[in-house]
Amino acid sequence: MNILVTGGAGFIGSNFIFYMLDRHPDYRIVCLDKLTYAGNLSTLAPVMQNPSFRFVKADICDREAVYALFEEERFDVVVNFAAESHVDRSIENPSIFLQTNIIGTSVLMDACRKYGIGRFHQVSTDEVYGDLPLDRPDLFFTEETPIHTSSPYSSSKAGADLLVQAYHRTYKLPITISRCSNNYGPYQFPEKLIPLMIANCLADKPLPVYGQGLNVRDWLYVEDHCKAIDLVIHKGREGEVYNIGGHNEMCNIDIVKLICHELGKPESLITYVTDRKGHDMRYAIDPTKIHNELGWLPETKFENGIKEAIRWYLDNRPWWEEIVSGEYQNYYERMYGKR
Ligand code: NAD
Ligand code: TYD
Repeated sequence: MNILVTGGAGFIGSNFIFYMLDRHPDYRIVCLDKLTYAGNLSTLAPVMQNPSFRFVKADICDREAVYALFEEERFDVVVNFAAESHVDRSIENPSIFLQTNIIGTSVLMDACRKYGIGRFHQVSTDEVYGDLPLDRPDLFFTEETPIHTSSPYSSSKAGADLLVQAYHRTYKLPITISRCSNNYGPYQFPEKLIPLMIANCLADKPLPVYGQGLNVRDWLYVEDHCKAIDLVIHKGREGEVYNIGGHNEMCNIDIVKLICHELGKPESLITYVTDRKGHDMRYAIDPTKIHNELGWLPETKFENGIKEAIRWYLDNRPWWEEIVSGEYQNYYERMYGKR
């Protein structure tokens, strides 16, 4: 099996590559990544010399480069992780989100049509369903929940999902889509909640909690997401959407307090800042379909996973310290300076 993984130098894509090379040593994995601010080649250093792995630096929007790679490699499966992924950046500048997340996905699918494919898998997000109210804990997102987006990020992901479904219906492209809740774990870029709070805690910097910190996310350890995608590409039904989430809802402030506690830092570092525009209140996945059809269940409990994640950031300081010492400082100043 020859698998193209796009966006594999990012957080979830790199974890997926490690998982797949380990789980299926007879597979060949090609990673195509533009190496944007969020892509980090050093992350892939452990597999660079693996003969079953190849890295290609390219933009999924670059039709010529994508077609040339497909011509050369003849992939059996494409798993599309490549995306602009941070909501706050999408609020600041939506256009690159439309370009990469929608146009890029269409270029990849055009290549699949032209050269043939066994499966095109789109890695989507629970954010396409919009949000749920805090006072209705009985409500969850199912695969039938209407698309109802809030941010330019989630709208661009929803646009891509609709296009993927259109290519299935119109061109019979063999697709699947997975919509996962918030991931955490090794190699997550420090702009996202959990690594940002860990990095700031370790530097004794203020911990910027948006609004009142009551927003709820359904957290899943990244390896559980990788396992779910592995199942969907092998056993998932063509044309179907699978929700992925572990019934692990936590409000932001509880997570930040937990990180303070684990790192032995005072909660007085917590600073409430101006809320995110259009901030989604609660995400909560109903994973019944993937459980019943494919037998998937999350394996890592949050209380263990968060400790493992914190341990990883403590043990791998050079990885994230290099990031936060560079261009990230300008981003941080823009995003948090006058907040
Ligand atoms: P990330 O931002 O860490 O990584 C994105 C990767 O894509 C980077 O390596 C970047 O260089 C690459 N990339 C960006 N634009 C590209 C382009 N035009 N061409 C080629 N490569 C490009 O993102 P992530 O958190 O790993 O998310 C991966 C996917 O999973 C995304 O599609 C995201 O929407 C989805 N997702 C993420 C989460 C989460 O909690 N992080 C949850 C559900 C779904
Ligand atoms: P984030 O990690 O950006 O993921 P998403 O917005 O895609 O769910 O944010 C998770 C939650 O944490 C979200 O409710 C926004 C909040 N948040 C903060 O309170 N402070 C921060 O500095 C960041 C980055 C996020």
